Amino acid sequence: MKYIIANWKMHSNYAFVQDWGQTFVNALTSQKVEVIKNAAQIIISPPFPYIHDLMSATADQSESIILCAQNVSHHTGAGAYTGEVSAEMLKDIGCQYVLVGHSERRAMGDNDLLEQKLKNVLEADLIPVFCVGEPLEEREAGRAWDFIANQLSLLKNIDPAQQLLIAYEPIWAIGTGQTANLEDIEEMHTQIKAAYNWPVLYGGSVKSSNAGKLLASSVIDGALVGGASLKPDEFLSIVEAAS
Ligand code: PGA
Repeated sequence: MKYIIANWKMHSNYAFVQDWGQTFVNALTSQKVEVIKNAAQIIISPPFPYIHDLMSATADQSESIILCAQNVSHHTGAGAYTGEVSAEMLKDIGCQYVLVGHSERRAMGDNDLLEQKLKNVLEADLIPVFCVGEPLEEREAGRAWDFIANQLSLLKNIDPAQQLLIAYEPIWAIGTGQTANLEDIEEMHTQIKAAYNWPVLYGGSVKSSNAGKLLASSVIDGALVGGASLKPDEFLSIVEAAS
């Protein structure tokens, strides 16, 4: 079973969600829903305001779609934290997963908050998708694994029995159309898997034209898809590549 996550980032509006939901449900139902459901967990991560709209827009097939939040507050409980969204709120509205440590959030200052965010997500009984990825200069200097191992060290005290996904997303491959080469991805995934027991997804310019090759690899447990997830047919082709 592969995990295919759509990360819409800060894209969409109300009309987009209706359209995406309808097109996706039609495409899903016209194909073999059971086969697709058995091959992949389809996880969608819309911006916060559209999480419920996506649920309604996919009502017919909503049990085939699992919701993921793109971010969570590092604050705990409720309180005077204007603009923040707590892990408990995400659980309450029906999310099951939360992205933690995406490189775009790390670039916005999240690095120091990640340990607390992970803790909040786990305490709310949600599943973290912990994202790691090296910048190009670290790869070129032959230090990619050291960089990733350091990012992963935040997971070392988490009970291995806890559900969690790791997403390996080399920063230079995100949104650039430049997918990392399969050998490098497989080498990195193998190293991650030797150190941690959780499934490891790949992210970085995944699209329908490369998904088959990537998802055929036994060490790639799924894909975190940004740009290509904004087109429902394209996204479903990636899901299909998992089956
Ligand atoms: P991309 O984004 O597929 O557009 O490269 C992936 C991600 O940022 O999760």
